[in-house]
Amino acid sequence: MYTFLPENITPVKQKASKEQKSMIGAIILGLILVIAAVVSWSYYSVSLRKAERLKTELLDLRKDGFVIRNQQGKQVFRLSFDSGDLDLESCSKYGDILTCTRSDKGKLNFFIQTVNPKDTVMCYRVRWEEFVADTVVQHTMYWDDAYWYGGAEMSTQHWPIKLFGYQEPKPFVTSDIYSFRDHFGGILERYWLSSNAAAIKINDSVPFHLGWNSTEKSLFFEARYKDSPYKAPPGNQPFPELSYRVCVGSDVTSIHKYMVRRYFNKPTKIPSESNFKYPIWSTWALYKTDIDQDKLLRFTEKIKKYKFNYSHIEIDDMYSKTYGDFDFDPIKFPNVTEMFAKMKEDGFKVTLWIHPFINYNSSNFGVGIERELFVKEPNGRLPAMVQWWNGIGAILDFTNPNAREWFQNNLKRLRTKYGISSFKFDAGETSYLPEQFSTYRPLSDPSMFSRRYTEMAIPFYDRAEVRVGYQSQNISCFFRIIDRDSVWGYELGLKSLIPTVLTISMLGYPFILPDMIGGNIYTNGTMDSDKIPDRELYIRWLELSAFMPSMQFSVPPWLYDKEVIEIAQKFTQIHATLVAPLLLELAGEVTDTGDPIIRPIWWISPNDENAHKIDSQFLIGDTLMVAPVLEPGKQERDVYLPEGRWRSYKGELFQSTPVLLTDYPVDLDEVAYFIWASEETVST
Ligand SMILES: *[C@@H]1O[C@H](CO)[C@@H](O)[C@H](O)[C@H]1NC(C)=O
Ligand SMILES: *[C@@H]1O[C@H](CO)[C@@H](O)[C@H](O)[C@H]1NC(C)=O
Ligand SMILES: *[C@@H]1O[C@H](CO)[C@@H](O)[C@H](O)[C@H]1NC(C)=O
Ligand SMILES: *[C@@H]1O[C@H](CO)[C@@H](O)[C@H](O)[C@H]1NC(C)=O
Ligand SMILES: *[C@@H]1O[C@H](CO)[C@@H](O)[C@H](O)[C@H]1NC(C)=O
Ligand SMILES: *[C@@H]1O[C@H](CO)[C@@H](O)[C@H](O)[C@H]1NC(C)=O
Ligand SMILES: *[C@@H]1O[C@H](CO)[C@@H](O)[C@H](O)[C@H]1NC(C)=O
Repeated sequence: MYTFLPENITPVKQKASKEQKSMIGAIILGLILVIAAVVSWSYYSVSLRKAERLKTELLDLRKDGFVIRNQQGKQVFRLSFDSGDLDLESCSKYGDILTCTRSDKGKLNFFIQTVNPKDTVMCYRVRWEEFVADTVVQHTMYWDDAYWYGGAEMSTQHWPIKLFGYQEPKPFVTSDIYSFRDHFGGILERYWLSSNAAAIKINDSVPFHLGWNSTEKSLFFEARYKDSPYKAPPGNQPFPELSYRVCVGSDVTSIHKYMVRRYFNKPTKIPSESNFKYPIWSTWALYKTDIDQDKLLRFTEKIKKYKFNYSHIEIDDMYSKTYGDFDFDPIKFPNVTEMFAKMKEDGFKVTLWIHPFINYNSSNFGVGIERELFVKEPNGRLPAMVQWWNGIGAILDFTNPNAREWFQNNLKRLRTKYGISSFKFDAGETSYLPEQFSTYRPLSDPSMFSRRYTEMAIPFYDRAEVRVGYQSQNISCFFRIIDRDSVWGYELGLKSLIPTVLTISMLGYPFILPDMIGGNIYTNGTMDSDKIPDRELYIRWLELSAFMPSMQFSVPPWLYDKEVIEIAQKFTQIHATLVAPLLLELAGEVTDTGDPIIRPIWWISPNDENAHKIDSQFLIGDTLMVAPVLEPGKQERDVYLPEGRWRSYKGELFQSTPVLLTDYPVDLDEVAYFIWASEETVST
C-alpha cells in the first residue's frame, strides 16, 4: 500500500557518462512518477475519508451496505451489512481493490475487488472477515423488483423462488426434505441468480447459514461457527468470514452461463443412452419393503406383457436380510442365480438400492467397528449411532479411504456375483449424520459428506441414481429429486416437479430424474399402499415425465385400465422418438458447456418479463417447449409463447409472438408442446 521515497538522493556532480546520464534521467522520471502517484493517492485517500459513500466501478459503498448498477445505470443488486457498520475513514482504494480495516465493532478485514472478466460482465469479490471468535457476520440481500432462482431443492418449491414468513439463518446444508420439510434439500449450491442479470456465489470456505424475511423480500447470508455444524478448518481460529462474488451481466441467461462456467464443475461423461430413452422400472412404490423373488419376476413379466421398454429394473428396499448386508435375503430370494438368469434372458439390466447405513444387527456392523469404517463419536473410538427411516445403525465414513474402498468392494462384488449394472444410491444427506461426531478427515462443511458420498457413484455412473449433490456436478450420473407425495400441489406434488427440475438445472446438474410417475403412493408422509394414485393425477404425471430427461415407473399403468395403458404406451413412444434424440444431443453438449438440458422459458427470451415467472412450462434445449396440464379436472390451460415462430403439436403455426394463448385445449391424453419453427418450415 505504502510507497517509500528514498530520503537522500543527491544530484550526481561529476560529469556523467552517456549511460550515467540516461540512468539519471530514468531515475528522475521514475521519481516524478512516484511522487505524482503518491500525491494523487493521498488526495484520493483524503477524499475517500470525507465521503459518505465510496464508488468502485458501478458499485456504491456506504457504511451499511452497497448497491450495484448495471451498465445502463439501473440498480440491480442491493445488500446491507447487518452485523456491523463499516468505518469509511478506515477505507482506502488501491487499483481495483477497496479495503477497509475497521467497523463500528473494531478491527476487520474488508475488501471489495472489482473484476471485469468480459465486456459485458462486471464482478465484485467481497470479503468481510472478523477477528473475534464466535461472532457472526450477516449481510442481507434484497430481491427488490427482481425474480430470483437457484439455491436449494425445497419441499415446497416455487419458480421463481417464493419464501414464506420469517426464517432465522440456519445451516445451509443438505437434508432429507421428505422427512424434514422445513430444511434445505439434498441438492443445493450457494448460488442465486436474478432476472435483473445479477448473480451471487457464496465462497465455499464460508460457514454459511441462510435465512429470510418474506415481508421485506430479503435473504440473510450469515457466516457463523457458534452453535453451528460448521467447524473452523483445523489449526484456524473460529473467526467467521463472509465472502462472495456478485456478478452483473447484460441479461439473465448470459450471466448464468458465465457463472456456471466460472464456478461449477460439469459432467465429464454421459450416462447410458438407455436412461434417456427407455423407462426405468422401480419396485418401490408398488411393493415397498415387501419385495421378493416372485413379485419381482411377476413385475418383469407384466412389463413385457404390456410391451413396455426398459432401461433397467431397480430392486429397491429391501432385498437383504438386514440393512447393511450387501446380499440377498435367501428367504425372500430363494434362487437368485436363477432369477438373474431369467431377467438377463429377458433383457433386463438390474440396479440395486443401496445406502450408507449398517444397522446394528447386520453382520457387517462388527466388521465396520473392527476396521473403523464408521463415523465416530466426537472423541471416541466408538461409532456414533444414527436413527434413520429403517432403524438404527452406524453410518459409513466416506472421508475415510478404507471405508470408501470397503463400500466400493462390496458393490463391485455384487456386480461380479450377480451382474448388477449399477445402484440407486439413497440418502447421503447431513441430516443422517449423528448430532455430534468425528470423521477420518474433518468436515469443516458438513455437506462435504454428501459430496464424498456421491463420489461412490463414479464407477457405476452409467445407470446410477443419487439424491444428494453439493459441488457434485462432475459426478456424471443422474440426480434424482426427492420422493414425491401422490398429490397435485407445490409441496412435493405434481406442481413441484417443474420448479424443482429447473432449480436443480440452474445449480449445474443436467441429468435429472424426476422420481416416480404418480409419486410414491404416499400422502404427506403416510404410506397408503392399498390405494393407487388418483387416475387423472397419474396420467398428467406420466405426460410430464415423458418430457423429462428420464422416465421412471413404479406404480404401473396396468393397475388402472386400458386407456391408461394406451396413454402410457403413447408417451413412452413420444419420449423415445421425439424427446430422447434431443436429450441425447443436448447431453452431448453438456460436457463442453455445462448448460442445462431442461431450461426455463426465459433462457431464450431473457428480457421478456413474462417469461421470468412461468413455473408450469419449460424448454428442452432451445427448440422444444412443453406446457403440461397440472390442474385436476382441466382439459385446457394458458400457454405463453415467447418470441419466435412456434409450431404446435397439433400443427398450428404461431408467428405473432410473444403471445398468451388462453384456455388452449389439451385433452386428457395430450401434452401441449411447441416446436421452434425455422424459416424453412415457415415457408412450406
Ligand atoms: C474463497 O475460499 C477459498 C477456499 O475455498 C479461499 O482460498 C479464498 O481465499 C476465498 N476467497 C475469498 C475472496 O475469501
Ligand atoms: C420482516 O420485515 C418486516 C418489514 O421490514 C418487518 O416489519 C418485520 O419486523 C420483519 N420480521 C422480523 C421477524 O424481523
Ligand atoms: C434354482 O434354480 C435352478 C435352475 O432353475 C434349479 O436347478 C434349482 O433347483 C433351484 N433351486 C432352488 C433352491 O429352488
Ligand atoms: C434386525 O433388527 C430388525 C429390527 O430392528 C429386525 O426387524 C430384523 O429382523 C433384524 N435382523 C436380524 C438378521 O436379526
Ligand atoms: C470434480 O471436481 C473437483 C474439483 O472441484 C475435483 O477435485 C474432482 O476430482 C472432480 N471429480 C471428478 C470425478 O471429476
Ligand atoms: C404435511 O405434513 C407436515 C408435517 O409432517 C406439515 O407441516 C405440512 O403442513 C403437511 N402438508 C400438507 C399439505 O398437509
Ligand atoms: C419399445 O421400443 C421399440 C423400439 O424402439 C418401439 O418400436 C416401441 O414402440 C416401444 N414401445 C413402447 C411401448 O414404448
